[in-house]
Amino acid sequence: MRQDDIIGKLKKLAQLDIDAIHAYDHAVENIDTPEIKNAMLGFRQDHFRHVENLSRVIAGLGGTAPAFKKDFKGHVIEGFTALRSKTGPEQALKAMRSNEKLTNSMYGEALTWPVDPAARAVIRANAEDERRHLAYIEQVLNDRSWESTSRDKRVA
Ligand SMILES: [Fe+2]
Ligand SMILES: [Fe+2]
Repeated sequence: MRQDDIIGKLKKLAQLDIDAIHAYDHAVENIDTPEIKNAMLGFRQDHFRHVENLSRVIAGLGGTAPAFKKDFKGHVIEGFTALRSKTGPEQALKAMRSNEKLTNSMYGEALTWPVDPAARAVIRANAEDERRHLAYIEQVLNDRSWESTSRDKRVA
């Protein structure tokens, strides 16, 4: 694979993480359960870190990393689910599950790219975060944790 191709792929991966930050911005608006909301904000922060560490890798290869824009609307990566209005926790979590499936499959592919060991370590650590994000969201959807919390509140 040519250096330009590697840079292009890394840029797309960083853009995926930027899309994820925006998607979590909308997801947290739909979630009232503090514990779940805090987890989502933590995942958002992880994606920020991914954008930063991938940007350093891209710059090290002589490329220009995609810019993060705060007022960005919509998503660049095809397949990312956008939440533009209030939909409720279940829909928000399902959208993020589908988004995190995409991050997991793209990071899985990225682990096969011919990059130097330092870049590979960055990709591997990020991929590990993505696995944790998806596992948590699947667990919450499976347990319907947001419901039990609101039920407990009513009983109290
Ligand atoms: Fe990420
Ligand atoms: Fe993630």
